[in-house]
Amino acid sequence: MHPAPEPRAGLHPLLAARFSPSRFDPSGTVDDPTLNLLLEAARWAPSAGNSQPWGFFTARPGEPEHARVVPHLAPSAARWAVDAGLLVVALTRRHVDGSGLRYSEFADYDLGQAVAHMTVQAQAMGLSAHQFRAFDLEGITKELDPAPGWAVVSMVALGRAADAPPAGRERRALAELLAAPWAPAE
Ligand SMILES: Cc1cc2nc3c(=O)[nH]c(=O)nc-3n(C[C@H](O)[C@H](O)[C@H](O)COP(=O)(O)O)c2cc1C
Repeated sequence: MHPAPEPRAGLHPLLAARFSPSRFDPSGTVDDPTLNLLLEAARWAPSAGNSQPWGFFTARPGEPEHARVVPHLAPSAARWAVDAGLLVVALTRRHVDGSGLRYSEFADYDLGQAVAHMTVQAQAMGLSAHQFRAFDLEGITKELDPAPGWAVVSMVALGRAADAPPAGRERRALAELLAAPWAPAE
């Protein structure tokens, strides 16, 4: 791992400035037009065969949906996620026929792209996103009860960041991205 305190010059400012906040400003509410634009960004993501295997459950503070999601957050995420203007539960459709027979190889990959688009759209609107897995997967799946074939994968907290990017964020060197798949196991 090589410290990379600054993204290199030329990286798009939306990507260079993005980080996952550890604190959200509770007064940073997400209104309906903003929510719809975040979903719109996900909607226009590419996907294998244009299968669009993503689905979302959204919850804003004060909405009944929020009260359904929050109890399933792990303490490590609850600390900051409850203050976010929007919580999104991200689901993917791994089994296209619902019976578990037809497995969709790219479902999780495609969902990740849709969420990435959502995070960049958030950044463009002055919001920040923190994706996380720190929640009770079994509990939230039971609570939301998705249709057969669908699986909860991750969550995203979106809102107005209340902190700055932490010092010492690290990234692997560019050369390592090209070499790592062939390097001997550590
Ligand atoms: C699929 C996924 C799961 C993650 N799970 C957690 C998590 O459970 N808790 C957490 O604090 N951050 C989580 N993160 C955020 C990462 O830790 C973070 O993106 C990474 O450290 C890089 O930091 P940055 O986003 O600020 O660049 C997750 C991110 C992704 C994409």
